Amino acid sequence: MSASAEIRLAVRGRIVSFDGGPGDAPTVHEQGVVLVDAEGLVAAVGDAAELLPTLPPGARVCDHHRHIVMPGFVDPHLHMPQTQVVGSFGTELMEWLAKYTFPEESRYGDPDVAEAAARFLVDELLRNGTTTAAVYCTSHPVSVDAFLAECERRSLRMLAGKVMMDRNAPPRLLDTPERGYEETTALIGRWHGRGRLEIAITPRFAPTSTDAQLTATGLLAAEHPGLAIQTHLSENHQEIAFVAELFPWAADYTSVYERFGLVRPRALFGHCIHLSEREREALGRAGASAIFCPTSNLFLGSGLFDLAATRAAGIRVGLATDIGGGTSYSMLRTAAEAYKVLALNGQRLTAFEAFHLMTAGNAEAMGMEARIGLLRPGMEADLVVLDTGATPAMRRRMERVETLAEELFALMTMGDDRAVVATYALGRRVHDRQGFVEHPLPPRADAPFAPPQDGEEGVEQ
Ligand code: GUN
Ligand code: ZN
Repeated sequence: MSASAEIRLAVRGRIVSFDGGPGDAPTVHEQGVVLVDAEGLVAAVGDAAELLPTLPPGARVCDHHRHIVMPGFVDPHLHMPQTQVVGSFGTELMEWLAKYTFPEESRYGDPDVAEAAARFLVDELLRNGTTTAAVYCTSHPVSVDAFLAECERRSLRMLAGKVMMDRNAPPRLLDTPERGYEETTALIGRWHGRGRLEIAITPRFAPTSTDAQLTATGLLAAEHPGLAIQTHLSENHQEIAFVAELFPWAADYTSVYERFGLVRPRALFGHCIHLSEREREALGRAGASAIFCPTSNLFLGSGLFDLAATRAAGIRVGLATDIGGGTSYSMLRTAAEAYKVLALNGQRLTAFEAFHLMTAGNAEAMGMEARIGLLRPGMEADLVVLDTGATPAMRRRMERVETLAEELFALMTMGDDRAVVATYALGRRVHDRQGFVEHPLPPRADAPFAPPQDGEEGVEQ
């Protein structure tokens, strides 16, 4: 059997992949195609005129014409139980947690609540072109089960964790050092490495864990050296002062996590706004990641992330929505706000840097760069198809763009979910603006879309 006999699908369009470093021009095939094999992996990327004649007879062609095809967006920080907290008025972080977020998260011990939220969240991510995310569930293991079951149904690559917290929150949300350890261990056994799913060790943040819980968390981290860790760091001045009070022995906030062995590669630290030079140096040396959450940082009045200083310290950087402190599920909207936050700091985020972050950069920040984030043979065929003329205002703006950099910058400045034509996971269309979707399993009874016609060609538009 020739290699081409295994090709199942060809996705045509303007193919764009950020193969270089942050800010480098992407690899582009203006009239290109991504060939996908039967396993859902990228088999080849190139010019349509060269590759289409090699297709085997049974292969399906999805022609997205003038639209941009790039790796699916990656969102390295968001909260599954906060979909009904987005846009809660009038508070900064600590009061926002106490007044809105903790009461809401208390509902997630109920599997029905968790399942409904998981289904909504996965639909919404895919509608926005996001194919992979790092997700905080609640302290209830059932919330992780619900989320990952929904992701498994769609064959997604996802990272999720049970939040560990044993103080400074309502009793219904608290676990203990022992329970946090045992429940996380059980979740690792149940889910980690199943399909494309991974468990992240997830202590919420230093203020909601005792020294004993952070010790147990460090033990988990030592027992599972390859696992991702996710937590929050240096988001808000009141939070930082509280950490100083709770951990009087610590020189700074980062040293709390260092003390318990939680600063290492694949440790994803949300926010990282008010770090000292020493803290940045420590994160960079350890190979950790700082996750920039601009809509959240603006909404909660937390502060302005310093991208230049973070990169200069050698820290891997991610860009995330942080739903529901964050206000949009769209990585395009998130990039637009990132540009504005950095502008207030005298920095300029280029379109190439922003789209690199949303794809390859975020994959790298999560330690998933070997599988997602680029369009290269062997990578998983998770794709987003983008329409840069999705609205009248965008179409009018695009009449005057002359370069891809200008077009992408206008897309991230003006675009949102309306610009997402289709989303593919492992070469299956899991979202389509016009309603053609493929589900890996029989569609749910309430599925909004009809199943696809096999062999259909030239869908959408
Ligand atoms: N710090 C601890 N928990 C949270 C959370 O849920 N959202 C944000 N933005 N920061 C946090
Ligand atoms: Zn968060």
